[in-house]
Amino acid sequence: MPLARALKIKKLADALGAEALNVNLANVKEDDFKIIRDSLHDNGVLVVRNQALKPAEQTAFTRKFGEIQYHINDEYKMPGNPEILILSTELDAEGNNVGIPDAGSDWHSDHSYVDVPTAYTFLQSVILPKVGGDTQWIGMVAAYEALSTEIKDRIDGLVGIHSFNRFRNSRMTRLDRHGDGEAYYSKRSPPDAFHPIVRTHPHTGKRALFISPRFTLGIKNMDDKEAQPLLDHLFEHLIDERFIYHHKWQKGDLVIWDNRQTLHLALGGVKLPEVRRMHRSTVVGEIPV
Ligand SMILES: [Fe+2]
Repeated sequence: MPLARALKIKKLADALGAEALNVNLANVKEDDFKIIRDSLHDNGVLVVRNQALKPAEQTAFTRKFGEIQYHINDEYKMPGNPEILILSTELDAEGNNVGIPDAGSDWHSDHSYVDVPTAYTFLQSVILPKVGGDTQWIGMVAAYEALSTEIKDRIDGLVGIHSFNRFRNSRMTRLDRHGDGEAYYSKRSPPDAFHPIVRTHPHTGKRALFISPRFTLGIKNMDDKEAQPLLDHLFEHLIDERFIYHHKWQKGDLVIWDNRQTLHLALGGVKLPEVRRMHRSTVVGEIPV
């Protein structure tokens, strides 16, 4: 009988990203799990190829990394499997969305608007469109390290104000499907969360920027006249080809990313009625320091 091929990790881009081959996450050996977790910490994003995990299998693999983080929206959790959030362009018989159709359409780190944000996100492709639906990530360690000493000194010790409320964020446009937005966002938004603009990764010890255009509204104890230009400068710096990994999804890809050291963006561009369906699960992290 031929021996099973060994797990292989290959880098995908300079700033971040690697792929894992020859592994079945439904039945992963402990040694391989450790390699996967270490590669994720080293590379920020890990693309695991050729997976076909059922919802319960994805949940079980996710739990190996820690405690499940449930999304604040109930309506798009998978019935019977609330650990899985459905992202989809599909409509049901009544014409309602079966999942979030436009999740992640602005740069962000998952759940940074709560006190204990997400550590890891797991996104499995289930149905892919012919065109569109790519995802990008920014390596926030590389982005931090490339800042000038002057800016590093200036942001040292500063604290960002994070909110889910798109309505309060001058950098965001409103989404038509939420009406005027105010009622939707004020009802669902948790109280503001406050996180250091530069955080230290609990496993690698590396420093990374921890702000995003989607969720960071301002800087604590700093007037907007000073804070907004500083945030603009940082966003302009970090949204840069040098720090980006661009992912074209393949059937069977399950991508894991480390939200403590990356931002991500769903590029959209799916032409309806083509379907893009993904299953997302998340693991709660720690209070950023
Ligand atoms: Fe996200």
